[in-house]
Amino acid sequence: MDVLNVEGGRRLAGRVSIEGAKNAALPTCVASLLTDETVVLHRVPQLRDVSMILFTLGSLRKRVVRNGKSVSISEDGPLAPEASAYSVKKMRASFLVLGPLVARLGHAVVPLPGGCSIGARPIDFHLNGLRALGARVEETAAAVLVDADRLRGARIELPFPSVGATEHLMMTGTLAAGTTEIVNAAIDPEVLDLVALLRRMGAEIEVDGRTLRVAESRMRGAEHTIIPDRMEAGTMLLAGVATRGEVTAVDVCPEHLESYLEALRAMGAAVDCEARDVTVAAPDGVRGIDVATGPHPAFPTDLHPQLAAALACADGTSQIVETVFEGRTTYVDGLRAMGAQIATDGRTATITGVEQLHGAEVEAPDIRAGAALVIGAVAARGTSRLAGLEHLERGYDRLADKLQSLGACVERREA
Ligand code: UD1
Repeated sequence: MDVLNVEGGRRLAGRVSIEGAKNAALPTCVASLLTDETVVLHRVPQLRDVSMILFTLGSLRKRVVRNGKSVSISEDGPLAPEASAYSVKKMRASFLVLGPLVARLGHAVVPLPGGCSIGARPIDFHLNGLRALGARVEETAAAVLVDADRLRGARIELPFPSVGATEHLMMTGTLAAGTTEIVNAAIDPEVLDLVALLRRMGAEIEVDGRTLRVAESRMRGAEHTIIPDRMEAGTMLLAGVATRGEVTAVDVCPEHLESYLEALRAMGAAVDCEARDVTVAAPDGVRGIDVATGPHPAFPTDLHPQLAAALACADGTSQIVETVFEGRTTYVDGLRAMGAQIATDGRTATITGVEQLHGAEVEAPDIRAGAALVIGAVAARGTSRLAGLEHLERGYDRLADKLQSLGACVERREA
């Protein structure tokens, strides 16, 4: 098992390239199940989670050819109706294959999902949505069995704008008779990237505020380039802020980062967006702020832990209210080991800034908490050792190399 060895306290500066978005790559790969023609995706990040979704598609007998950051997904023979337990248990996004498989084959079996342990993460919106489309759904202790002679469009109102349920039901809706209306849908950039691919594949989808209308369509092959990863960009820019540095995230979509950049400005950072490059320069005295996460366009929950790491060494007291996942504060113990002062009360984390964090031995509990601990470590004085790299590799490609190129002293070593 390798660890990251970090000699902290160096100011980060420079330009860093950003990969395609993990959370857009996963559903767009699954969309290939909606057609027997070939779907080609570009700017696909080289991550464990992407390998896992491609493995899942392979287990359903899709033919996957990967060439660097491009992936071609085609079909040689009949699809299999049963997803591999291994991949769905490892990664929640694999569950999205259920609806498309039922729409194509009339029945499907998918094991209950796993993924990051950040709260309960139920699947009731997904299953109730499939029931509304006319599917029969049976849940056993280990799997979900679904069948339907013919799916029919319906009006589905989500109790919360769930990203996964929106993507799942929208994909399934493209093959359901008539029109599927999803009310209170998630409208995150990654959801809209999936809309863009589905439209290229022949889908008719209307986006009207938080309502999506999806008409039954003949789905064809298509080619699509995935949007930049706002979570990776957000992580690198916060690493810059935490070290009082100046970092440019290269080739991103600044409009996807609005609520996040607003928070950085409130912390006193200078934000400069020039075409597709975003530069954030931190002042010497970074100010504490109050933020609430929420469904897009609010501040993204996937950047909450990294923000907490930067606020841990800001002036004054900050509060982050988490409204999406109750188990988001898995970063707290690791940052406390570095000297951070963080109190949690229900969904609120109160962070009292300290002058300087110090190095510590910590372990990444999940992807984003792991990223927060890396930010804490590069900002801290002294040496940190971070275990649990398998979590970081689910969501970050070459994180150590990229931080190194910005001037951090980060090295992967055998434990
Ligand atoms: C996706 C992202 C994840 C991000 C999250 C919220 C991917 C692969 N993952 O996860 O990185 O943190 O969106 O932006 O895109 N809920 C239910 N029942 C359901 C589904 C969801 O109660 O059937 C609840 C969840 O418990 C959570 C909230 O809805 O409280 C939002 O979850 P959701 O948007 O579905 O998250 P994911 O799609 O799993």
